[in-house]
Amino acid sequence: MMNFCEKFNHQWQFIAGDHPLFSAAELAAAEQVDLPHTAVELDYNYFDETSYQRPFSYQKTLFWQPEFDGKQVWLQFDGAMADAKVYVNGQFVTGHRDGYTPFDVLLTPHLLRGENQITVVIDGSENPEIAPFGGQIDYLTYAGIYRHVWLKTTDDLRIKNVQAIAEDVLADEKTLNVSVFLEQVATGEHQGELVALLTTSAGELVASHVLPISGSQLRVDFSLSNLTGIRLWDVDNPVLYQLNVSICGTNFSHQFSTRVGFRQAEFTAEGFLLNGRILKLRGINRHQSYPYVGYAMADHAQKADADLIKNEFKFNLVRTSHYPQAPAFLDRCDELGLLVFEEIPGWQHVGDEVWQQGAIANVRAMIERDWNHPAIILWGVRVNESRDYDQFYEQTNQLAHALDPSRQTGGVRCHANSTLLEDVYTMNDFVLNGGDVALRKPQQVTGLDRPVPYMVTEFNGHMFPTKRFDCEERQHEHVLRHLRVLDACYADPNIAGCIAWCLFDYNTHKDFGSGDRICYHGISDMFRMPKFAAYAYKSQCDVADEPVMQPVTFWARGERCECLILPLIILTNCDEIEFKFGDYPTKRLKPAFDQFPYLPHPPVIIDDKTISPEEFGEWGMKWNTVTLHGFHNGQLVSELNMSANPIATKLRVKSDYQRLPANEKAATRVTIEALDQDGNLMPFLDDIIQVAVTGPVNVIGPEQLVLKGGAVGLWLEAGKQRGDAVVTFTSRRLGSQTLTLVIE
Ligand code: GAL
Repeated sequence: MMNFCEKFNHQWQFIAGDHPLFSAAELAAAEQVDLPHTAVELDYNYFDETSYQRPFSYQKTLFWQPEFDGKQVWLQFDGAMADAKVYVNGQFVTGHRDGYTPFDVLLTPHLLRGENQITVVIDGSENPEIAPFGGQIDYLTYAGIYRHVWLKTTDDLRIKNVQAIAEDVLADEKTLNVSVFLEQVATGEHQGELVALLTTSAGELVASHVLPISGSQLRVDFSLSNLTGIRLWDVDNPVLYQLNVSICGTNFSHQFSTRVGFRQAEFTAEGFLLNGRILKLRGINRHQSYPYVGYAMADHAQKADADLIKNEFKFNLVRTSHYPQAPAFLDRCDELGLLVFEEIPGWQHVGDEVWQQGAIANVRAMIERDWNHPAIILWGVRVNESRDYDQFYEQTNQLAHALDPSRQTGGVRCHANSTLLEDVYTMNDFVLNGGDVALRKPQQVTGLDRPVPYMVTEFNGHMFPTKRFDCEERQHEHVLRHLRVLDACYADPNIAGCIAWCLFDYNTHKDFGSGDRICYHGISDMFRMPKFAAYAYKSQCDVADEPVMQPVTFWARGERCECLILPLIILTNCDEIEFKFGDYPTKRLKPAFDQFPYLPHPPVIIDDKTISPEEFGEWGMKWNTVTLHGFHNGQLVSELNMSANPIATKLRVKSDYQRLPANEKAATRVTIEALDQDGNLMPFLDDIIQVAVTGPVNVIGPEQLVLKGGAVGLWLEAGKQRGDAVVTFTSRRLGSQTLTLVIE
């Protein structure tokens, strides 16, 4: 009989409280849910985050299946928050305390040949024995079984994991060192064969290896060597290969597949090298949360975040602050060529011995889950912004190196003169407070007498919270601060890169943020809709990738104090911009290399040296339309008109995906924007949007939304049935727009 592995996500019974086996009354009271699932849906803001800080129980019936005969039956949990305890027919089987890493449960000894109740009790309490809890934390840890659960069978001998490390990556003949970790579930010895096949992603065979396995051997190491014609994995061309390992013997057979990439990544005191060439890391911190459902977003939305980071905002690195994130997100990073700095769960606080042992286990769980992702270039083995605990961090660091000799380690701190136990001094440098210093010099931070590999892992954030709908002056300063840090980072070859805080605004505890349980620290809002600051990064890409020309203005006579218009920043990668204000003569403007000498693409900054205040005029004078033309090597690559007379004209509705699979809780983000006659966002248009759905999709969150700062977003989740779903968005002022999603 073949082994299988399938999702075990559907038809769980869910109820609040700690119930290892549901009574008839509890069953009757339970709600039927599918995974990923959040225990408590929260409002957008001003909610009570303690509402999910308690136990919840999930129960699902598992009938004995003929395929189980002679097999080991497992459940694999990809992520359950937190302190999960798994029971079979009311009997405790196993537990897993961490809410971010996966765990396997062997069901076989507990299963009846008939009906079985699988119950999972999770506890959303902030249990001080478990990371990240014990102090305050500036994010939420939404309770729930929020990732996939898998049901799988194996024989007594199974492949537990495979590690593949590429060697001699820059040589013509490359090597892939493979370690296969076997698990013998029942006692006994084995006799058989192991076959490894390395193929291209199109399935063409690149190399193979066959070897006998026998006895009680549980680890098999071998190399696929003299590999020629291998294409490197790189940020621009992330070539992936497939490694399939199978074992087969008289009474066992099992397969394990993983993707691998050939790339060399190294942090040095002269910067970060990818495949032997310096690459300045332009990074962003990402939480894994979404409005309403918190962590419980299925794969499509996870992947869309990676696409947004790489393709829309043009970063080349993401930090999974502050915990291991969804496998689907990391898979997409591999596919896109988006580098990753992944770290263990935690925030400032380090607990007692039990807590620390848990954190050390998290290092292992993170690395063993993710060691084959070519995108991952650094392991974070400290609790974010904790103080030095040398004994503890010697252990996390040593373990990371022992498990994965191919990757360097970092550990994010926010204080100077911290003991450097890791390979890279990773530092949250929040020095910029509006004063002259954008970033400290690495050696000023490390206190060391020599340059060491160094990366800035956070900046800005709480130092200058800014809402997408904040006034122009604040957003102008927000943009400048991001540009200044970026420029300082590009200026210093010792700084491998910098990672901005953060990708989007996020829900948080009452102790942080703006009082409404949101930290407005993002370069985009909670719907991932960009603030101007996002274009500080986006405009650093090459024109060949995408021409960018984003003026930091709402284009109005009286939005700023004293009716000032200047200085006006235009975030762009064009080498020249033509600026035409009303009937005044056209001005040709160059990027401000004098102010941002190190940026690949400094903005164009219009000040009163280029345009006299008389030309713009003053309070009481006529306001004019502006037209911008962006040029690259003399070619027109971008054009923008901002009307002096914006009139509410159109609702624009866009979705990340047009097609979604049925019955998987796959969701797509939809953005709704109020535009003027030139297609520009109307930043002060607030209106009610009514969402009406026909067909198989569900709205996540409320069906009545309010445009805020001229825009709002939501996620639509595919239902159980296939078919076309038509979603209508109606605004009182701008009429209706429909969106059709194919649920297949
Ligand atoms: C840092 C912390 C982040 C976030 C940020 C806000 O101290 O590491 O998680 O809270 O501040 O700026």
